[in-house]
Amino acid sequence: MASLPARAAPRLHELKLVAAPAQAKLVGEKFPSTDVWAFNGAVPGPTIRARVGDKLRITVENKLAEETAVHWHGIRVPNAMDGVPYLTQKPIAPGASFVYEFALPDAGSYWYHPHHRSFEQVPRGLHGALIVEEAEPPKVDRDEVWVLADWRLDDQAKLTADFGNFRDMSHDGRLGNTVTINGSEAEEWRLRAGERVRLRLINAASARIFALEFKDHKPVVIALDGQAVEPREPAGGRVVLSPAERADIILDAVGKPGQRSSVIDAFDPRAAYRLVDLVYDGAPLRQAAFGPPPRLAANALPEPDLAQAERFAVRFSGGMMGGPFEAVLDGTTLDPRALAGRGKFWAINGIVAGDHSAHAHGAPLLTLKRGTSAVLQIANDTAWHHPVHLHGHFFRVIAEGGAALKTQDWRDTVLMGPKESMDIALVAGESGLWMFHCHILDHQQGGMMAHIRVV
Ligand code: C2O
Ligand code: CU
Ligand code: CU
Repeated sequence: MASLPARAAPRLHELKLVAAPAQAKLVGEKFPSTDVWAFNGAVPGPTIRARVGDKLRITVENKLAEETAVHWHGIRVPNAMDGVPYLTQKPIAPGASFVYEFALPDAGSYWYHPHHRSFEQVPRGLHGALIVEEAEPPKVDRDEVWVLADWRLDDQAKLTADFGNFRDMSHDGRLGNTVTINGSEAEEWRLRAGERVRLRLINAASARIFALEFKDHKPVVIALDGQAVEPREPAGGRVVLSPAERADIILDAVGKPGQRSSVIDAFDPRAAYRLVDLVYDGAPLRQAAFGPPPRLAANALPEPDLAQAERFAVRFSGGMMGGPFEAVLDGTTLDPRALAGRGKFWAINGIVAGDHSAHAHGAPLLTLKRGTSAVLQIANDTAWHHPVHLHGHFFRVIAEGGAALKTQDWRDTVLMGPKESMDIALVAGESGLWMFHCHILDHQQGGMMAHIRVV
């Protein structure tokens, strides 16, 4: 019997991310490069890869003309490392740096992005993947990342400067007209017959919700938001991924050399489009049939105690066609017209968030005692989709529309459709202020943002 390889000792990875203007070739050679804002000159920024238990020490240097701060989406970091300006740190001034240092408690697919004026900094190109490998990764032929981003370009491939306009904010957010995989509008993605690929899908778009269909293939989902799930084919064969969500899928290359199969984004059936073609290239890697998809070991997340959990009602309201609506901004109750005049359209429990600096002084949505369980009964009173995200925690989605779910996935971001409701359960983690917001970045900016205080 072969002996097991010794588990590698935890490592410290030191790296530097410089946020600065740069140029990127997003679309074909026929177009000029696009002026972007990028980490280390590239969109997406460098993929950070480490192993569960390792530590990162990342110096973020700000060479933008405005402040920033970087958030490590999904990583259970100490509160002071969470990257939310005013709430957890001072914003990083132009020319200044900040050192983030934290351990990686959970394996999975994560990402990083600024949390300062996110509605502009993220879609200008500031985002990258953060991959935390398992202690014993499952056997696959290739482990690949697709960072999906969505750009609104003019006919010279220039980013339109209409970030945070009121129409995007009050409707479905800044949808672009150009979708890229790892920073370029790909025509083809190569596969070899017989290979098994672990594909880590990361939605870094501000607003676009994907529903990916892999024609002629049967992807199997093995993790959502980094957390292992019982391997399963996605409902209707479509991998739905709202902004900030991740899905790890196993893609078995069941096609033949020379085959071409499209990957379609059909979230909006009237505007379905081909994202990329899977193209079979070269000799088959092997002939053998594929075994069952690998299962990932679960991360050690604290299990909520539903019998003891305190329950909280959370209502999302506002937006166009949302019905009558009044909400409080900076202590004053305003009607939709007055709110719109101040660039605000959305509320959580009747409170409209101002920017982070004002928000930091506002009352938390709720206060939880560290280590105690809570159930948030979230209702979407609006006519729009909202990917709901909580920082610093994973929660189980335990019910939809009041009915208990059979499969209660762990998530850090969950998509709530118009007029839907869902219950999520969690154990309050590290003490501090943790953001809770819609990850359609224009909605967040438009007021759909709150924080939870853990004491
Ligand atoms: Cu992706 Cu508030 O975060
Ligand atoms: Cu986050
Ligand atoms: Cu939203």
